[in-house]
Amino acid sequence: MSRTLISGGTIVNATGTNRADVLVDGETIAAILAPDSLLIGKDGAPAVDGVIDATGKYVIPGGIDAHTHMEMPFAGTTASDTFETGTRAAAWGGTTSIVDFVVQTAGQNPLKQYELWHEKAAGNCAVDYGFHQILSDVQDSSLTAMDELINEGVTSFKFFMAYKGVFLSDDGQILRGMQKASDNGALIMMHAENGSVIDVLVQQSIQRGDTAPYFHGVTRPWQAEAEATHRAIMLADLTGAPLYIVHVSAKQAVEQIAVARDNGRNVFAETCPQYLYLSLEEHLGAPGFDGAKWVCSTPLRSRAEGHQEHMWQGLRTNDLQVVSTDHCPFCMKGQKEMGLNDFSKIPNGIGTVEHRMDLLYQGVVMGKISLSRWVELCSTTPARMFGMYGRKGVLQPGADADIVVYDPNGHTSIGINKTHHMNMDHSAWEGFEVDGHVDMVMSRGTVLVDDGQYFGRAGHGQYIKRGLSQYLI
Ligand code: URP
Ligand code: ZN
Ligand code: ZN
Repeated sequence: MSRTLISGGTIVNATGTNRADVLVDGETIAAILAPDSLLIGKDGAPAVDGVIDATGKYVIPGGIDAHTHMEMPFAGTTASDTFETGTRAAAWGGTTSIVDFVVQTAGQNPLKQYELWHEKAAGNCAVDYGFHQILSDVQDSSLTAMDELINEGVTSFKFFMAYKGVFLSDDGQILRGMQKASDNGALIMMHAENGSVIDVLVQQSIQRGDTAPYFHGVTRPWQAEAEATHRAIMLADLTGAPLYIVHVSAKQAVEQIAVARDNGRNVFAETCPQYLYLSLEEHLGAPGFDGAKWVCSTPLRSRAEGHQEHMWQGLRTNDLQVVSTDHCPFCMKGQKEMGLNDFSKIPNGIGTVEHRMDLLYQGVVMGKISLSRWVELCSTTPARMFGMYGRKGVLQPGADADIVVYDPNGHTSIGINKTHHMNMDHSAWEGFEVDGHVDMVMSRGTVLVDDGQYFGRAGHGQYIKRGLSQYLI
């Protein structure tokens, strides 16, 4: 077993920061040592096989992106990152674990779909991966499958209140799934948008000739998100199931979540970098068809209405607990352009898996969140929320040696011809110049990225059999 010392850095955990060295032995962290420890063997030689100098840098637990869609079939096409390309890009950006969604649409067997996702991922991933399960038509057999999937380490299930005829479950179906979750300890994840209302608004918009990408945002108004968020909270309350709202973008939805939490309900939520930085006006409203790059659901919101600042506030006050990417990339050519004359045909999704750690670090730079909160939002809480904590999400003896050395004095230029390893023909983050740099990335003791060079390999990543959420009571 090889031993590596990461020396001279400042360790950042969710609980605080301290100057210390990290001793990695094989795949795990063996010890957190006093700064500048000299590890000398009996013969006077260094008792480690390698030293990584982290002087002046932060040493943080590897990022966990709890919301990705690698090679997901969607809207008549397939998300352009495979497990191989998407997890390689994740590694480049300091994310050492992803949790991807197994898709079950009407009529499909959830257990068969789960096996299919294993076939897609096994032997292809650069970083460790787990699965959530999407359930659409909730049959008796799906409820039984939920128990079986929990034993397989799939402990969270996503339902959709939108996308009729594809993913949408009606309220009764969602209620049944929640009743099951309140029995077996699963976490219910919710795509909270009122699909029926959106479908009418979309149809009316297309009929009027308002077909440009901008109208994707207009036809998915904040009211549709806030209403569905409230409804999901009420359904969860009826059953006692814990609830995690995904990709929150409307400030009014955050308000619903905050009220629920203040009233003692077991409700949690994530937002994504796109809802912190990008907007309806500047991005969906970009000239010509360019706005298609930013068509995702929930949609980018109006900056004039202040949603983006409200998301930062929610992250600071813990009304929002996690930042994931909802990584669901599509190329412009042949994919997004399917909706050239009709925005409703543009496949929904943005690719961000590579940039989440850097983009959220800007919150530290701008004084919106602390260093520890950065780590908590991007690694520690995802680990706790989705049953991986201890092994993942923290630098402590016994944890997997998933470690990032982050240079606060470094700089990262984001763009298709710069730092871009996602399988996309554009970047939703083109031209972003950010402070900070992912210098070194280690996954279970293996260096994947160091000093701008990639040493990872497809197949290094292993399946994470997750436990139940630590936030359950
Ligand atoms: O636009 C999005 N979010 N695409 C992925 C599917 C989903 O709803 O998460
Ligand atoms: Zn969704
Ligand atoms: Zn998603």
